[in-house]
Amino acid sequence: MSLRANVRRGLSGVDTPLLAVLLNAGAPLPSVLATLDRRFGGAIGAALAAGDFKGKRDETLLLRGPAGRGVQRVLLVGVGTIGDDFDAYNATVRASAIAGRKANASGVQAVALWAPILEGELVEAAVIGTAHGAWHFTEMQTMPPVKERPKPLRDITVCATSNSGAVEALAAGIAIAEGQAVARRLQVLPGNVCTPEHIARVAREVARANRMKITVLGRRELIKLRMGSFLAVAQGTPQDPKLIAMEYRGGARGAKPLVLVGKGLCFDSGGISIKPADRMELMKYDMSGAAGVVGAMHAIAALGLPLNVVGLIGSTTNMPSGTAMNPGDVVRASNGKTIEIINTDAEGRLVLADVLSYAARYKPAAVIDAATLTGAVVVALGNTTTGVMGNDQALVDQVRAAQARAGEPGWQLPMSPEYNDLIKSDIADIKNSGGRAAGTITAALFLREFVDYPWVHLDIAGTAYSESDLVVSPRGPTGLPVRTFVEIARGRAR
Ligand code: BES
Ligand code: MN
Ligand code: ZN
Repeated sequence: MSLRANVRRGLSGVDTPLLAVLLNAGAPLPSVLATLDRRFGGAIGAALAAGDFKGKRDETLLLRGPAGRGVQRVLLVGVGTIGDDFDAYNATVRASAIAGRKANASGVQAVALWAPILEGELVEAAVIGTAHGAWHFTEMQTMPPVKERPKPLRDITVCATSNSGAVEALAAGIAIAEGQAVARRLQVLPGNVCTPEHIARVAREVARANRMKITVLGRRELIKLRMGSFLAVAQGTPQDPKLIAMEYRGGARGAKPLVLVGKGLCFDSGGISIKPADRMELMKYDMSGAAGVVGAMHAIAALGLPLNVVGLIGSTTNMPSGTAMNPGDVVRASNGKTIEIINTDAEGRLVLADVLSYAARYKPAAVIDAATLTGAVVVALGNTTTGVMGNDQALVDQVRAAQARAGEPGWQLPMSPEYNDLIKSDIADIKNSGGRAAGTITAALFLREFVDYPWVHLDIAGTAYSESDLVVSPRGPTGLPVRTFVEIARGRAR
């Protein structure tokens, strides 16, 4: 991360071009801000008293102070009302993200954050939020001349209200923010740059930096492993498909690992069942599950969580070509099951069938996969809620709790056996498309044929990227499900 973050106690002596002050709805001027308000000629208190700033969620007001050392500008940021589905932690992430975004756009290069209560895990939240808001991607733009270059945010200072746990929380915030940045960069990179090879390279860098074991298998190895389902997707592209396994050992030797699995389609054209041209470019995001695994593995290792975690990625590109799979083809996955390919655009489940089968070799305590798997989940839950399904209700509950903590909410869809009729094949064991009805559920039911351990599937097609501005971040990659994965791992490490 190109951002530096540090923590200090309180506000006295703070010298910053921009101080973000996070305030709840309707809060009066906190008494500890009296000195600061005096420096601003009473402008902060007056703005609150006059109702120029009410502390509503996402509301901001920028006030300019006198020149010289000290606080030069104050940005009031509304936190809104903390309630049942808006906890203090996620409220702090959100308000900090708005501060980070404003700070980055304004060119001040340094921001300090303060709130009436900013301690412990809220310090972590402030770092995650600010970094999330300040995130931007300019790698693919020609650098303008020095004078015209935008000045990105470089420094975050959290002004904590107590020292307790602040240093640890800062480090945790940095670890998670870095993981999210790794994921978002991979997500936004176009398919001609972010190839399976590239994902493998970044995964190797993350593994080396965190002393993790990593294995990268290519087409030859997939053939040896008889991964006929994964290979059916990969046969349409000359790029070498990659099955990537990252192994973090933070737990006891022999302790069963948590396995995180990501769909890594670097581009999904649909194949022979080709997609319409309109917005097809967004299918570069079809590797978001894989990006989430790489980012989460970094964060989990940097946090030093005391458990074993394996990150698995199946990466390729779904193309129409003379060698591509065709509708009607029947293939055999590595677990021995035969699949009739009805629609070549239902490729994610074909890749995951073999990667999930591969996960069994780790004797996992639990497997969580994340995949931009179905357009149907966007219809059902929109762009703010991830689809959740699984074969173990206790694990589903655990995952949903982690999603809520992470501010990446999910909602469970049923996997009742009645739906199984929709993916029965006339000639093979199963078919890869059940048609339009219950598309998200039939995709999950398909995956279930390839798991024999406690498992939860996250359909992130609606939540991994956004086509509209989200206030906390511009349109583009959200970094989801990095924080979800981290919270699942944290929950299991306790
Ligand atoms: N990658 C897509 C799903 C997707 C759609 C992700 C929209 C993000 C936004 C997936 O591979 C796909 O094409 N699914 C098909 C399945 C169908 C053919 C059974 C779909 O959802 O239409
Ligand atoms: Mn597809
Ligand atoms: Zn896809």
